[in-house]
Amino acid sequence: MSDLHPLLAFRWSPHAFDPTARLADADVACLLEAARWAPSAGNRQPWRFLLGHRDDETGKRILVNLPAEDQRWARHASALLVGGHADGPGGDAERRAYDLGQAVAHLTVQATALGLYVHQLTRFDHHGLAADLDLPADVRPMVVAAVGRLGDPHALPPDLLTRETALRRRRPLPTLLLA
Ligand SMILES: Cc1cc2nc3c(=O)[nH]c(=O)nc-3n(C[C@H](O)[C@H](O)[C@H](O)COP(=O)(O)O)c2cc1C
Repeated sequence: MSDLHPLLAFRWSPHAFDPTARLADADVACLLEAARWAPSAGNRQPWRFLLGHRDDETGKRILVNLPAEDQRWARHASALLVGGHADGPGGDAERRAYDLGQAVAHLTVQATALGLYVHQLTRFDHHGLAADLDLPADVRPMVVAAVGRLGDPHALPPDLLTRETALRRRRPLPTLLLA
């Protein structure tokens, strides 16, 4: 870890979010700007986002489409950001999903720079979310990112506290190389 940039080293996906923290408009703009400048195949920029704050109607509509077990912690995040990719000429869905992932990766690094944390979820009711948010027919929702400030892990239910404090693991570096 010693050579890793702190913005990468300090990023992680918490369950404990501060239920009193609000996401400032300037921070939202900065996060989206980071996503906007991500690279994409053919510079097609297929990513689309929809943001709901914790207490607003959009935030509630996003939350109800998450699995009940994730709602327990995601409801405390300052905001829930839906990321999707839009159909368009050129490329295919796989490439657009790859591009969206890069945009969200950019966004998470920018979040770390702002002292924010992001926990992505791909397990949610995709059809329900698209319907409840009245998403355009050409946009496929792929991810919901919970965004906020770090909260007190001891306020979590016991099973989530265990996951929150578990050692984070990664494959050993040599196993990444197919040599
Ligand atoms: C594309 C993607 C989908 C994910 N989906 C879920 C999910 O459905 N539920 C969940 O609790 N975490 C989800 N995560 C978070 C991962 O579990 C987490 O990133 C991984 O365990 C590594 O932990 P770290 O982010 O703290 O380094 C997802 C992360 C990514 C990037």
